[in-house]
Amino acid sequence: MDKPILVARKVQMMFNSPDSSLEALAEASFEVRPNEFVCILGPSGCGKSTLLRILGGLVRPTGGAVLLDGEPLQGPQARIGFVAQHANLMPWRTALQNLALPLELQGTPRAVSEGKAQEMLDLVGLTGFANALPRELSGGMRQRVALARALIYDPDILLLDEPFGALDALTRERMSYELLRLWEMDRKTVVMVTHDIQEAVLLGDRVLTMSPRPGRIECALEIDLPRPRRQEDLYTARFIQLVHQLRDTLR
Ligand SMILES: Nc1ncnc2c1ncn2[C@@H]1O[C@H](COP(=O)(O)OP(=O)(O)O)[C@@H](O)[C@H]1O
Ligand SMILES: [Mg+2]
Repeated sequence: MDKPILVARKVQMMFNSPDSSLEALAEASFEVRPNEFVCILGPSGCGKSTLLRILGGLVRPTGGAVLLDGEPLQGPQARIGFVAQHANLMPWRTALQNLALPLELQGTPRAVSEGKAQEMLDLVGLTGFANALPRELSGGMRQRVALARALIYDPDILLLDEPFGALDALTRERMSYELLRLWEMDRKTVVMVTHDIQEAVLLGDRVLTMSPRPGRIECALEIDLPRPRRQEDLYTARFIQLVHQLRDTLR
C-alpha cells in the first residue's frame, strides 16, 4: 500500500482566551493516501474547519502534528490548495485577475500568469467570464473561480471546506458532478469537509465521520462503489446502503 501523503497524528486544538478555554479538537488522527479522495462528515461545530485549516498549515495545532510526506508541516505550502465555503475574491478584480494574482505576486510575468489563469477558467467551465467582476458572477461561478485559484499552482493536495455549502441545492448538486469530473481527469489527493452524506458517498474513496465537539475521528468507511461514478449511481442499492450506514454512525 502507498505511504500516506498526509497524516494527522493526535491533532488537538484548544482555543484559549483569558477567561475561557474551548477544546475544538481532541486527538483527531487519520491518514490520507496519495490520490485518495477523503470526505469528512460531522455535526456542525465539531471542529471540521479547524481541522482542515490545521491540515493546510494555516493554523498550528495545540497538540499533535500534521505530517506531509512524513515531514512535520510547518506552514502553508504551494503543494496544498485550499477552498473555503466562501470564495473571498477581490471585488475590484475580474475573474481572470483574481486567478492571476497569486502568480503575479510570485513575480510571474503578466502574459504568462494571465495565460495560466485563462487555462484554469476553461478547466472549470468559465471560458467566457474572464472579464467579469465577482459581483457579476453567480454563487456557483464564484466557487468555480475559487476552485480554479486553488488549482493554479497544480497542488498535490486539495483541501475543500464545504466548498458548495453556501449554494442552493441544485447548483450544489451540479458542482459536485463537476468536481467529480475534474477529479477523474487528474486524481489529486483531496480532503473535503461536507455535511452532505450523499455528496460524501458520491465523491469519496473513504468517508471519515467525526464526533461532536471536541471532535475526533470516530469511523472510517471505505466507499467501494466503482469509478467512474455517475449520477445514476445514486439510485443503486449499494449507494443507498452506504448512505444509511453513515447516517446511523452520525446519529
Ligand atoms: N479562532 C477561534 N477562536 C475561538 N474559538 C473558535 C475559533 N475557531 C473555531 N472556534 C470554535 O471551535 C469549535 C469548532 O469550530 P469549527 O472548526 O468552525 O467547526 P465546524 O467547521 O465543524 O462547524 C466551535 O465551537 C467554534 O466556535
Ligand atoms: Mg466549518
